[in-house]
Amino acid sequence: MLILGLETSCDETAVGIVSAERQILANCIAMQLKEHEPYGGVVPEIAARAHLDHLDDLVRRALAEAKITLDDIDGIAVTTGPGLIGGVMVGAMYGKAIAAVRQIPFMAINHLEAHALTVRLLEDIAFPYLLLLVSGGHSQLLLVLGVGAYRRLGTTIDDAVGECFDKSAKLLGLGYPGGPKLEHAAQKGRADAFDLPRPMLGRPGCDFSFSGLKTAVRQLVMAQSLSPDFVANAAASLQAAIADILVDRTQNALQFLQMDNQNVTTLVVAGGVAANKSIRSHLTALAIKYNLPFTAPPVELCTDNGVMVAWAGVERLRLGLTDGLDVASRPRWPLEALSTPMQK
Ligand code: KG4
Ligand code: ZN
Repeated sequence: MLILGLETSCDETAVGIVSAERQILANCIAMQLKEHEPYGGVVPEIAARAHLDHLDDLVRRALAEAKITLDDIDGIAVTTGPGLIGGVMVGAMYGKAIAAVRQIPFMAINHLEAHALTVRLLEDIAFPYLLLLVSGGHSQLLLVLGVGAYRRLGTTIDDAVGECFDKSAKLLGLGYPGGPKLEHAAQKGRADAFDLPRPMLGRPGCDFSFSGLKTAVRQLVMAQSLSPDFVANAAASLQAAIADILVDRTQNALQFLQMDNQNVTTLVVAGGVAANKSIRSHLTALAIKYNLPFTAPPVELCTDNGVMVAWAGVERLRLGLTDGLDVASRPRWPLEALSTPMQK
């Protein structure tokens, strides 16, 4: 069974092809960095038009990479939310048209579910697992009970962690996308150079807050000139503060699950920020403390891609979870709102 996955919910146009036997046949991504660079961030209208420009070529490239034709595709999986609605609609219409003409199943994929299930493409990770989902738009702790079955344990009360990375990187003159650039700059800095705040640390619950940290970086930047040493030290100090917050909140979630007699098989991190090596190593140490295996998708599958959408399509199709072509695109779509079939 081969599934074509389309991702257009933010600024990456991405197409992936995967098999139910966990083979990745194609992983094609067109980044829109040049289109948005003059504006210092993603412009939704420009993103939607760029998706439209790139999709045809990218699907052709993916089919060529997989050495197959559309005749070999058994289903289409498309991100139909949450995300920038113009772009989401472009992908949804494109995917629905293929499904209609080819008379093959259509799966409307929640972008967060695609991130949440990616690890199962690479490894045998059984449900339930604890997921730290950290991306440009989301910071959540979720108990993943099965395909379509999620319990949210905590979320951010203000900014997402990726946003904190991106905005701080911009303040430090590192450019966009900020996460990878900040991680790179941090390698030459000292994590204890600046004493940045760690909002929510030590408080009960599993919610996050990052806006105070961003403000602290702004104040720090205003007081200094942007020498390479300063930037490296600020980047390393910020990365350490973020890692401490993520570990503290995840530890609370693990404790809560223990008290609730809810066993989990694994600690998983996913989403763009999961590409960060320092954050991965802090979470690895936490998992060891709780005697749990820790896993994360390979770096190239942490940030947005079509493979994760195609894989979520595989997971859904084998449970018979297909969607009608009248399914709506959704700018907001919390994971708990998904239908909840039983896990396999
Ligand atoms: O999952 P993703 O590609 O898109 C969303 O669904 O939001 O996540 C993008 C976010 C951006 O904020 C980006 O700066 C961050 O992930 N990111 C990183 C790293 N790579 C990407 N943050 C920290 N370290 C990284 N290496
Ligand atoms: Zn994402």
